[in-house]
This record gives sequence, C-alpha cells and structure tokens, in this order.
Amino acid sequence: MDLDLKDLQKQIDTKEEREIVLRVGDVHYPYHDKRAVNLAFKFAQFLQPKVIILDEWIDFYALSKYNKDPSRKNDLQKDIDGTCVLLTWLRNMCPNTIMIMVESNHDKRLRTYLRTRAEELDNLRCLQFPELLRLNELNIEYRKSFIYKSFLWKHGSIIRKHSGMTAKGELEKEGMSGCSGHSHRLSLFFKTLRGGKFVWVESGCLCDTEDVEYIDGTADWLQGMSLVSFKKDSEHYYPAVVPIIDYEILWGKRTFTA
Ligand SMILES: [Fe+2]
Ligand SMILES: [Fe+2]
Repeated sequence: MDLDLKDLQKQIDTKEEREIVLRVGDVHYPYHDKRAVNLAFKFAQFLQPKVIILDEWIDFYALSKYNKDPSRKNDLQKDIDGTCVLLTWLRNMCPNTIMIMVESNHDKRLRTYLRTRAEELDNLRCLQFPELLRLNELNIEYRKSFIYKSFLWKHGSIIRKHSGMTAKGELEKEGMSGCSGHSHRLSLFFKTLRGGKFVWVESGCLCDTEDVEYIDGTADWLQGMSLVSFKKDSEHYYPAVVPIIDYEILWGKRTFTA
C-alpha cells in the first residue's frame, strides 16, 4: 500500500477535544517540596484540565499515632493555613476546573485522633476535615473516591515494593481501571482480560523525598503527577505519568521548570 503523505499530515494536524483528569497529590504539607509543587501548579495552569483530583495535601504529623520527633515543629494551625494557601493558589490558576479531594490515610489522622482522644468533639462541624481546609469556599468536593467514565480515582491503601507492584495490587483489588497515590511511586500497569483492557496508574508525590524520617537510606519515591486524557463522548482514554526529574517536566516539545 502506498503511503499517502497528505493524508498522514492531515491526521497529524487534526486536533480533537480531550477531557483531561489530572491527579496532583501526596503533597504532605509542611513536608512538601516547594519547587515540585510550584512546577505542578505551572503544569496544571498550562493544561487547564476538566478535573483535578487532589489527595493527601496535609501531613497532620502532630496527629500521628506514631512516635514523634520532638524537634519537629508542631503547629497544626500553621499547617492547615499553609495547605489552604496552596489550595487557593491552585484554584486561582484553574478557576473553571472541577476539583475533587479524595480521602487519604493522613486525613484520617484527624478523625482517629478525635475518636480516640476527644470523642466528645468528634461531631463538631468546625473540626471536620473539609471545614478545616475550607474546601467548600474553594469549590472543592471531598469524597472517598471518584469515578469518571469507568475509571476510578482513590488515594489507595496498598503499598508494595517496586514501581508497578502497588498498581498491580490496586487493579487486582478493584477489578477496574484506576489511579491512586499513596506509594509515592510512578507507574502504569496494564492488564488484558476477557472482560476488557485495564490500566492502573501510580501517581508519584510532591513531598520532599530526601531524608524521609521513617526510611533508612534512599526512599524509592518519585515526584510527579499523572493524567488520564479521555476522548470526548467516548470511554477511550490515554493514561500518562508526569515525572518531575531535576525540577523539570518534559511534556511533548515543552519543558516546564521550577
Ligand atoms: Fe503520601
Ligand atoms: Fe497515603
């Protein structure tokens, strides 16, 4: 068959509308990496995605049940205010984006603390997680998980050694395509079954990856984000990881730096 160069060029030039869902998570304020977060915001502003999934933006170190390092600053209000500032910046950069925060294990530290240490205060509206982070004001919905076009977003609860293994575990657990954080690694894990073609996306982190308190040696983590780009009016999607390496994102022919 002859190659029709004109037809090929026409196909390359064709631009279709896409619905992009970007995941920006594992920020762990105040243990976030400011440059990585800055870069993530620049990328989100460039993309103007239809949806941004947020998860684990605050560390809640002070509420952890694990032994705490007394030298670490224990200023809960400052951490909450700082997280709100970051969320406000992102909201201002993507004013028309649907923003959804999915519940994470670090968020749950607040509820666990209240239920075990201050049970009587547990149902106070002002102490609920969405209230503290002013999610309503910022037009951010708080959910356990989110499904769009047969694709699931959640924070995740499985941690396995090596990139891809957590994604495999989540796909096997959920039996559908999806995306999670929690492992702080990046990967795409594909599985073809009689029931269809599935993928699970592991989404990286935006926290500091050096000198992690509870890891001996190098943390096998990678900063970055992930996105799923859907064909409009279709279930067809393109999943991608967006690694941040040396404070750069290489995307198509563009380079984003911080
Ligand atoms: Fe995390
Ligand atoms: Fe987590």
